[in-house]
Amino acid sequence: MLKDKINGLLSQVNELKAANAEEVEALRIKYLSKKGEITALFNEFREVPNDQKREIGQLLNQLRQQTESRINELREKLEISNQQSAISTQLDLTRTPDPIALGTRHPLSLVREEIEDIFSRIGFTIAQGPEVEDDKHVYGMLNFAPEHPARDMQDTFFIEKEPGVQKPTDVLLRSHTSSVQTRVMTSQKPPIRVLCPGRVYRNEAISARAHCFFHQVEGLYIDKNVSFADLREALLYFSKEMFGPETKIRLRPSYFPFTEPSAEMDISCNICGGVGCSFCKGTGWVEILGCGMVDPNVLEACGIDSKVYSGFAFGMGVERITNLKYRVKDLRLFSENDVRFLRQFESC
Ligand code: DAH
Repeated sequence: MLKDKINGLLSQVNELKAANAEEVEALRIKYLSKKGEITALFNEFREVPNDQKREIGQLLNQLRQQTESRINELREKLEISNQQSAISTQLDLTRTPDPIALGTRHPLSLVREEIEDIFSRIGFTIAQGPEVEDDKHVYGMLNFAPEHPARDMQDTFFIEKEPGVQKPTDVLLRSHTSSVQTRVMTSQKPPIRVLCPGRVYRNEAISARAHCFFHQVEGLYIDKNVSFADLREALLYFSKEMFGPETKIRLRPSYFPFTEPSAEMDISCNICGGVGCSFCKGTGWVEILGCGMVDPNVLEACGIDSKVYSGFAFGMGVERITNLKYRVKDLRLFSENDVRFLRQFESC
């Protein structure tokens, strides 16, 4: 009897199972395709006497709908579990877990930016120059005599034009940022007020107190009537801003080829307050920079009329200032990138 067959199938449909897409398709073919079991029942339905058509027709439609929805349900379940397993194979278990710790600013960057900030408040702008330089900009135009020892191989890294062949060459790694002075003076007209931060290189054995590269900030001010008093005021302002309002400065006569007169500047030791400690070797003073009035020869070499213009210049080591501010005892820490050292600057 058709009715019994329909009821028999109806009791089974909700139990249909499939483990994969192929099995779902097999069920569809078995029941719903042209040659499927349910389609066959529709063929048999034609023979049903008229008075039973209504009842059996309803049952048959119910069977087809229930089978369709069961098969759809099985298909959806499989798709969801496939997506989930795809997600789990995309999981990267080597990834650093959240929250990912943020990096910290490098102490040299912090100090360089503070120096830039202080001088920008009195009108200095930033200028940059190349690290691979020529003899003219690093030494020649800065009034270094041809035989000046700074040019010596002991100090300067020269760049070989042909690998392995040490011919006389004038291509070198700049040994000080004073080279940016000559670049600025030959390309800009006074008044000039620039600060030149950058990396410099010297042929030194690496130790706690020396490195083959380090960082400097150069300052240059050229205008009419610039005096040594202006230089002193600018440096006093800088020292107080950088190390605190109680800081004193002292200028000692010195020599640099590119300044006349030249001086070295000490600040009152910010560690002992000037009383004398091991850091300042009991003197109460620590040296932080070199400075002076730009030598007229340098102005002329750069095409600036030394009878109309005068100027001052200064140069300081960023590592030195950082040591004073944060008491870092070993220069090598700045370039080793040991996170235990760098993390100490997290809150700065
Ligand atoms: N260039 C010098 C050095 O590397 C530092 C310096 C001294 C720069 C005096 C200056 C200056 O501008 O006037 O040791």
